[in-house]
Amino acid sequence: MSKYLVVSTSGNPESNSRIMGCVAFAHLQKAKVDCDWIDTSELDLPLCDGDKCYANAAAQKLKKTIEAADGIIIAAPVYNFDVSAAAKNMIELTGKAWEDKVIGFLCAAGGTSSYMSVMAYANSLMLDFRCVVIPRFVFATGDAFDDDKLADKKIEERIKQVADELVRFTKALRG
Ligand SMILES: Cc1cc2nc3c(=O)[nH]c(=O)nc-3n(C[C@H](O)[C@H](O)[C@H](O)COP(=O)(O)O)c2cc1C
Repeated sequence: MSKYLVVSTSGNPESNSRIMGCVAFAHLQKAKVDCDWIDTSELDLPLCDGDKCYANAAAQKLKKTIEAADGIIIAAPVYNFDVSAAAKNMIELTGKAWEDKVIGFLCAAGGTSSYMSVMAYANSLMLDFRCVVIPRFVFATGDAFDDDKLADKKIEERIKQVADELVRFTKALRG
């Protein structure tokens, strides 16, 4: 049976992308698929140095969790017209663990002009690790949130749609 994972990569305790990830995780749990959750801000991960970082216990735990999943939703903040350095560090620390995964994205941003910001990251997963990236992602600005809640029904529906697509793509590709 396929296994799924939702990864939250924001370090902000009031993160909007984490709220989006929680919506996707709840939806996958309701669909009764085998789904795990991991929040990189709780792991005390080192910065990737291309050397000693790989022996770090938290980096190894993250790597094992990623390896165990077939389909992964990455919830990420948009920083400087890219995803955050923490989201990139996650890939640098875990490398080959990403091979052949199906990936969906949930991005939180400050403004609509950063809409395509996830593409460099998505390309690196596609070309470096042959991931299949779902050609639909969720992009939400602060307007979609009311304090610690997602207040925009359209964004909520789109998150659920991406989660459903993750399951559909993963089942089709992994059998
Ligand atoms: C260092 C930094 C850089 C940012 N750069 C962008 C940006 O390029 N485009 C944008 O739309 N928002 C930008 N923002 C706003 C964040 O995307 C926004 O606060 C979002 O909610 C972050 O995700 P999070 O709430 O999950 O942490 C930036 C915020 C920070 C702190």
